[in-house]
Amino acid sequence: MERMMYSAIVALMLILNLATIASSDKYEIDPSRTILWGPGLSPEIVMRSRYFFLQLVDVNGNNVTEGVEKADIRVTIRSTNSNGHTCRVWIQTLNSKDGSYIVRYRLYQTCYDFRIDVTVNNRTIPKGSIYEKGPIYEEECVCPTLSVPDWLEKYQCSSNYSQILNDLKDFPQLNFSNIRTQLIKNYAKPHSVSLCHYVIKNNRIFRRCYGEHVGFKVFSDSILLSLTRKVVLPDTEFFMNLGDWPLVQEGGPLYPIFSWCGSNDTKDIILPTYDITESSLENMGRVMLDMLSVQGNIKTPWNGKIEKMFWRGRDSRRERLKLIDISREHPDLFNVSITNFFFFRDEVAKYGPGQRPISFFNFFDYKYQLNIDGTVAAYRLPYLLAGDSVVFKQESKYYEYFYDRLIPGEHFVPIKTDLSDLVEKIHWAKDNDSRMRQIAKAGRALMREVALPHHVFCYHVSLLQMWSERVKSTISVLEGMEEVGQVENGCPCHAHKFSTEANEGVRSKDEF
Ligand SMILES: *[C@@H]1O[C@H](CO)[C@@H](O)[C@H](O)[C@H]1NC(C)=O
Ligand SMILES: *[C@@H]1O[C@H](CO)[C@@H](O)[C@H](O)[C@H]1NC(C)=O
Ligand SMILES: *[C@@H]1O[C@H](CO)[C@@H](O)[C@H](O)[C@H]1NC(C)=O
Ligand SMILES: *[C@@H]1O[C@H](CO)[C@@H](O)[C@H](O)[C@H]1NC(C)=O
Ligand SMILES: *[C@@H]1O[C@H](CO)[C@@H](O)[C@H](O)[C@H]1NC(C)=O
Ligand SMILES: *[C@@H]1O[C@H](CO)[C@@H](O)[C@H](O)[C@H]1NC(C)=O
Repeated sequence: MERMMYSAIVALMLILNLATIASSDKYEIDPSRTILWGPGLSPEIVMRSRYFFLQLVDVNGNNVTEGVEKADIRVTIRSTNSNGHTCRVWIQTLNSKDGSYIVRYRLYQTCYDFRIDVTVNNRTIPKGSIYEKGPIYEEECVCPTLSVPDWLEKYQCSSNYSQILNDLKDFPQLNFSNIRTQLIKNYAKPHSVSLCHYVIKNNRIFRRCYGEHVGFKVFSDSILLSLTRKVVLPDTEFFMNLGDWPLVQEGGPLYPIFSWCGSNDTKDIILPTYDITESSLENMGRVMLDMLSVQGNIKTPWNGKIEKMFWRGRDSRRERLKLIDISREHPDLFNVSITNFFFFRDEVAKYGPGQRPISFFNFFDYKYQLNIDGTVAAYRLPYLLAGDSVVFKQESKYYEYFYDRLIPGEHFVPIKTDLSDLVEKIHWAKDNDSRMRQIAKAGRALMREVALPHHVFCYHVSLLQMWSERVKSTISVLEGMEEVGQVENGCPCHAHKFSTEANEGVRSKDEF
């Protein structure tokens, strides 16, 4: 069913994709100065959705900073499959309404003689014509041809992950044979903890999970499967916490456990959340809301946005109910409501009834967005920041992998944990509109540096690489583990497979 829908869309969008914008037209664009960047300009970088950015520049050489009329962006992809027929490619052009565009495309088969041509107002632009002989693989193709250092370089990964360095500093080296049994004994409590023990050996994935609710293993499985289709991961061993809360309490025994969320009073080693990881893997696939679509579905420009704080969410923390109280005292400043009651069901009469959720894309009809913790950090923060509204963020001990790059007052407006300064900060925002717009722009710009799909993949590979350098015990598949296998899709891997020996002696930790 899903496939059929794609085919229809692909048929429609195969060759041509056109974007026209309606908005102010005070900019005169110089197509020849258009700036292009992003991993999708190198088609040999494999992702389900490959993407690149396009920034319009005006005749004076200044970046265009608003949506403009009469910018006609056309992207054409011509390519053939192994039978010599036209290769199936689905292209989308997303208008970020800030003078920039995101072009993304998805392949459905291995393509050859791959040619991308980008024109702006019918003019070819420098760097806008790309040719790769191929083979150009699609996401499902099992073809791990690169070593970790080559892969990190090719995917334009950062070499400076302060969060990883910080998380790993307590584990200069590790011998799992000394701690494995005790770790499992301490943490594998069936009713409260969901933990998977992974071994990566010869680029194959093995695991054993502990706990009653381990369904979320599909998320850690799917990123590892995706990576091992492209890169030869180092042999290593680690424990993945599938629950919300970080597990390794500060002051307690120190065990290495990977988690999706960290906190100031725990010592877990953190990874991008399952949410952003899934949307990075599945954009132009199963997922609608991702870090690219959120930038391309803004309906209301800054000046048309409603000057209120907008929020929707579950009742997963007391402050979320408090927000409802505050909003009732200041209805002119808020449009907020609880969508679902689970934690405070006995208070539905006061705070409910639950409102129907609305599309996340419509959040940005409002100028002020709020990020308020749920059980842990609210995993919507990267999407909120990537929109074009200004984000107010509650101070919190919880953090995700990229929070160490966030500067309060520069990328978001900080709010006290108990929300006591929320109303005052909204008044301040209304008085400082241009500053707010700047913060909104800075938030989006930072997300383009740290939270796009390729950043999420880079973070995983960098962490696994640095982790593997610290694990000194022998890596072997342990009793009770099962293999998490690839689904063979028949895609031939032409490039000769990278041998595992060649993966030895990869970049040393000093280089990070
Ligand atoms: C214009 O936009 C590009 C792409 O975002 C950026 O690298 C460059 O610094 C911008 N130039 C100016 C003058 O802001
Ligand atoms: C675009 O340019 C080509 C040649 O440069 C011309 O033949 C064609 O008519 C133009 N198309 C439009 C829509 O202006
Ligand atoms: C690495 O990142 C940290 C924090 O983001 C920054 O202070 C430092 O200058 C960076 N180092 C390099 C070599 O880029
Ligand atoms: C709150 O927002 C929703 C979604 O935009 C809208 O339908 C509703 O009318 C708003 N409520 C008020 C009181 O403005
Ligand atoms: C958590 O730690 C960070 C960095 O040390 C600090 O800036 C922040 O205030 C702390 N937050 C809480 C709620 O303790
Ligand atoms: C915010 O607005 C107030 C009141 O108009 C003004 O006094 C203050 O200087 C502004 N602050 C900033 C950072 O622009």
